[in-house]
Amino acid sequence: MSVMKVLVAGNPLLKEVSKPVEKIDKRITRLLKNMTETMYAENGIGLAAPQIGELKRMVVIDIGDHVVYEMINPVITKKEGSVVGSEGCLSVPDFTGDVERAEYVECEFTNRQGERMFLQAQGLLAIAIQHELDHLDGILFIDKAVSLVPRQDEQV
Ligand code: CO
Repeated sequence: MSVMKVLVAGNPLLKEVSKPVEKIDKRITRLLKNMTETMYAENGIGLAAPQIGELKRMVVIDIGDHVVYEMINPVITKKEGSVVGSEGCLSVPDFTGDVERAEYVECEFTNRQGERMFLQAQGLLAIAIQHELDHLDGILFIDKAVSLVPRQDEQV
């Protein structure tokens, strides 16, 4: 496993739309491991593949309970409610900001075994899912934030 360099806002790769993963092979499972290791090394609670320069629809999330969600080709299938909360991002080292998100989401993704999974999420997990999936479409939280403040210490 390796800790990868996290790209920072201004890098054009962060604005690209990532491509679906066609086949889960060693390269993909290794990438998931590297993403998780990088997320932990940087004290983040989520990381999307494009943040380390891989334009693939893959994210990892651990909101702090050491349950790692490895999501391949994730899609949000339902959103409910609305909540505004402060977010940060490993690719935006200098700012946090308030972003409006759905309060509850349902999503589907493929796990590393190739099984299609269904997940219901609320609270921080729901926000992390929305934040990370935005990365797969080239969207950063600063594109959506209603306010930005100099960084403190949350990282999504
Ligand atoms: Co982010």
